[in-house]
Parts: sequence; C-alpha cells; structure tokens
Amino acid sequence: MPLITWSKELSVGIESIDTQHKELIRIINTLNDAMDLDDPRDIFKKSFADLTQYTKTHFAYEEELFEQYGYQEGIEHKRQHDELIVQLLELKDRFDHYQMDMTEQVMQFLKDWLTFHIQKSDKEYSQFLVKLGVK
Ligand SMILES: [Fe+2]
Ligand SMILES: [Fe+2]
Repeated sequence: MPLITWSKELSVGIESIDTQHKELIRIINTLNDAMDLDDPRDIFKKSFADLTQYTKTHFAYEEELFEQYGYQEGIEHKRQHDELIVQLLELKDRFDHYQMDMTEQVMQFLKDWLTFHIQKSDKEYSQFLVKLGVK
C-alpha cells in the first residue's frame, strides 16, 4: 500500500498544482516502496535527488504565481518553502553519504513534511488564486 494516497483532501483546486503535488507524492511513495528491497541505497539516493530537484521546481512555480497575482502572504510562504528545502537537503545529504537508514519515522516525517504544507499553507494561497479565476 502506498504511504500517501492522493485524495480530494489534498486538492488545492488548481489543476497544475495538484499534478505537481501528485508527482511529489509519487517520489515519496517510491522511497517508501524501496524499503522492501535488499539493497535500496541507490534508489534512496536517486529518489532524494529527484525529490529535491522537483521540490525546487514546484516551489518556484508557486512563488511565480504569488508574484504574478500579487499574493501578499507570498513572502511568508516562501520562507516556509526555504525551511522545507533545508530539511530535505539535510536528509538527502545523510542518505547520499549512507549515514542514515530509512525508517518508518523518516517516511512519516516526509509524509507530514509534504501533506501538512499542502493542507495548511498551499490551500491558503489557492483560495486566494481561485477567487481570481485561476484553475
Ligand atoms: Fe505546493
Ligand atoms: Fe507551497
């Protein structure tokens, strides 16, 4: 069973953003599935690289929308993004150097890392944007 299943509760009501969130979920689920392998280290390494890369792309996309539509809380939102990236890079670094084993706690951290941000902060900006007609 996947660690995270996308559902309406995770929808922010903007299709392009939902699609990007689904991709982040897919990568986190890949990490989780790799726990069953005999030697998952290469997959952990690759998936952390994918997750970092795609997270940066996704955050930049959101920040571009804030800019474009004059979302005032975008500055605070970007600060949260920066913090999330720092947390992710710390984990990535430890897996890159084989200094850490994957555990259910690490996976739970990644699940919360993504879903709390979507459900709280992303839904705030999306309400603002949807009112302006963004779909
Ligand atoms: Fe997001
Ligand atoms: Fe965000």
